[in-house]
Amino acid sequence: MQGKFITLEGIDGAGKSTQLAWIVELLQRAGLVAIVSREPGGTPLGEQLRALVLDNAMTMHPETEALLMFAARREHLDKLILPALAQGQWVVSDRFTDASFAYQGGGRELDRDKLATLERWTQGVLQPDLTLYFDVPVELGQQRVKQIKVVDRFEKEKTEFFQRVRAAYLDRAKQFPERIKIVDGSQPVTVVKAAVERILLDVLNRA
Ligand code: TYD
Repeated sequence: MQGKFITLEGIDGAGKSTQLAWIVELLQRAGLVAIVSREPGGTPLGEQLRALVLDNAMTMHPETEALLMFAARREHLDKLILPALAQGQWVVSDRFTDASFAYQGGGRELDRDKLATLERWTQGVLQPDLTLYFDVPVELGQQRVKQIKVVDRFEKEKTEFFQRVRAAYLDRAKQFPERIKIVDGSQPVTVVKAAVERILLDVLNRA
C-alpha cells in the first residue's frame, strides 16, 4: 500500500516545528512508519542547497532562489519522498511546494505561471495528501522569530514581505480547500495540538 504525504506550512514563527514531533508521534502510535523531512533539504545535496539559500551573507536573483528550491525538491522527491511512499511509509515534510508559491511567488513577487511550470516539471501531478497550514498574524510570527538569536536570509525580511507570504498561503488554501487545512496557529500550543489531532485522525480513518 502506498504511504501518505503530509506537509506543514506557515510563515516563519507560525509554530509548525513545535507541532512536527507530535504529529510523527501520533502517526507512529497508529502503527505507521513515519519519516520526517524538510525543505529545502532532506537529502545531502538538498541540505547543501538549504545552507546556500538561507545564508544571510548570500545574495541571489529571486528566480535563482526559486530554481534552487525546486532543484532541492527534485532531489528530495527522487531520493526520499517517492521511495518512502512506494514502501508504504508516511512522509511528513516541514514545507514543500506551497512554500515556493508563498515565499517566491508572494514574498518575492515572482510570476506564478513560472512557478506552476516548475511545479509540473518537478513533481508532475504529485501533490501532498494533506497540508497543514499554520496561520498566524505576521506580527506574532515576527515576535516569535525575534526570540531566535541568528535570523536567516528569509527571517530578516520586513513585515510587508511576510504579509505577502501569508496572503499567498491563504490564496493557495482557498484554491485547494480539500488538501490544505488551515490551523489557527495563534492559539495556545495545546489548542493547536488538538486541532491538528482532529484533522489527522480524520485522514487516518480514511486511509
Ligand atoms: P524554516 O522552514 O522556517 O526552518 P527553520 O525553522 O529552521 O527556520 O526555514 C526555511 C526557509 O526557507 C523559510 O524561511 C521559508 C523558505 N522557503 C522558501 O522560501 N521557499 C521554499 O520553497 C521553501 C521550501 C522554503
